[in-house]
Amino acid sequence: MTALNLELQPEQRPHIDILNVFKAEKNTSHGFTRVSAPMVRYSKMEFRRLLRQHGVKLAFTPMIIADSFINSQKARYNEFTTSLEDIPCISQFAACDAHEFSLAAQLIYPYVDGVDLNCGCPQSWAISKGYGCGLLRHPELVKDIVETTRRVLPNNFSISVKLRLLNGSGDQSLRSTVELARQLEKCGATFLTLHGRNMWQKVSDPLNINAMAEVKKSIQIPLIVNGNVRTWQDAKNLHAQTQADGVMAARGLLSNPTLFNEYCGEAETSMECVQQWLDIATRAGDHIHFQCFHHHLTFMWSSHMKRKLRLEFNNFTSKQQIFDFFEERYGLKPHTESYSSPLEYTKCIYPQIKYDGVQVNKSSDVLAWNENSDGKFFNEFKDKVSAPNGQNEFELEGSFFTQLD
Ligand SMILES: Cc1cc2nc3c(=O)[nH]c(=O)nc-3n(C[C@H](O)[C@H](O)[C@H](O)COP(=O)(O)O)c2cc1C
Repeated sequence: MTALNLELQPEQRPHIDILNVFKAEKNTSHGFTRVSAPMVRYSKMEFRRLLRQHGVKLAFTPMIIADSFINSQKARYNEFTTSLEDIPCISQFAACDAHEFSLAAQLIYPYVDGVDLNCGCPQSWAISKGYGCGLLRHPELVKDIVETTRRVLPNNFSISVKLRLLNGSGDQSLRSTVELARQLEKCGATFLTLHGRNMWQKVSDPLNINAMAEVKKSIQIPLIVNGNVRTWQDAKNLHAQTQADGVMAARGLLSNPTLFNEYCGEAETSMECVQQWLDIATRAGDHIHFQCFHHHLTFMWSSHMKRKLRLEFNNFTSKQQIFDFFEERYGLKPHTESYSSPLEYTKCIYPQIKYDGVQVNKSSDVLAWNENSDGKFFNEFKDKVSAPNGQNEFELEGSFFTQLD
């Protein structure tokens, strides 16, 4: 396996030892680490920044396709941005072999505190390419990916895996999930995340909390549990039921980024949080695409609007329309200083990689996502909130991707 020269890159920041994050959070009154989930399109640097202002202690990037990251400069710049304050951060990759994952991990190493292997994406396109849940059919391969990557990266750099429960009848599924978790621990995984459903189960199916608790008991490395956390109380309950070291939320944070803020105690997004998002977006300038800015506000503010207003809001096409909307309706506008203090983005520089004498990361235009489309998650959300009897709670069937290029 190729080992890259991991000498300091320009603007490299110190690495945080993720195990120390878990230790520190264990000693808090709630006793667990608050984790924001990898979310394609959404868990980008600007949103991670907002979430950290509200209690998130460990943040994941969206899933990045390792192959695109290795081979396309365009994909690297589109799919990953960071700053010296974006700490601690785990970048998640979709990969289907050890070579791919380990190269992507080495490339991104200077800019994050760990890498995570996606073994949870249930989409058929991902499974057909051997990504996501597809990997769970090949536990040997998952172990090989972790072991190989562990060999080429320093020990205190985190390597983790996000899993779903393995398939099978109740007992069998639990036994094989526990077995895989133990094996991954032996291979050098720093921590694991478990979404308490198997690959066939939808978000409307019940979570298997008992299985998550059993997996926690069976390993020594930290376990993050994930599924259905919509409020701070849900997070505390899931921790109490599983004794897990961390609790991860995805959809709950989209609809309320203050979910993990123990002091907010509100079930819905506050005005203050919207204000913070307007400020971050202003400071991000052109780094944040209109769609990303707009979608987040749609998710976090829809429940505050009546249907007619939602329809109007969903159809906005420019940042200015959004700023005008919040100023006219709620008297909210970006703070003046936001205009004069742009966010500082790290200028990520990636080394050239040679594998078996061949340069593999030469610039090509392979892009993982069609960034100009709205994406299925947003479209389904929009349809639901636009429906005449649209409710405020949404159960989308786990479709968060749109077409691949
Ligand atoms: C919009 C969206 C995008 C997602 N993208 C990813 C991803 O990139 N990688 C991943 O492992 N899971 C992804 N997921 C799944 C979540 O990380 C999480 O496992 C799942 O939504 C269950 O958690 P929740 O009940 O808190 O939403 C995504 C989910 C959503 C809603």
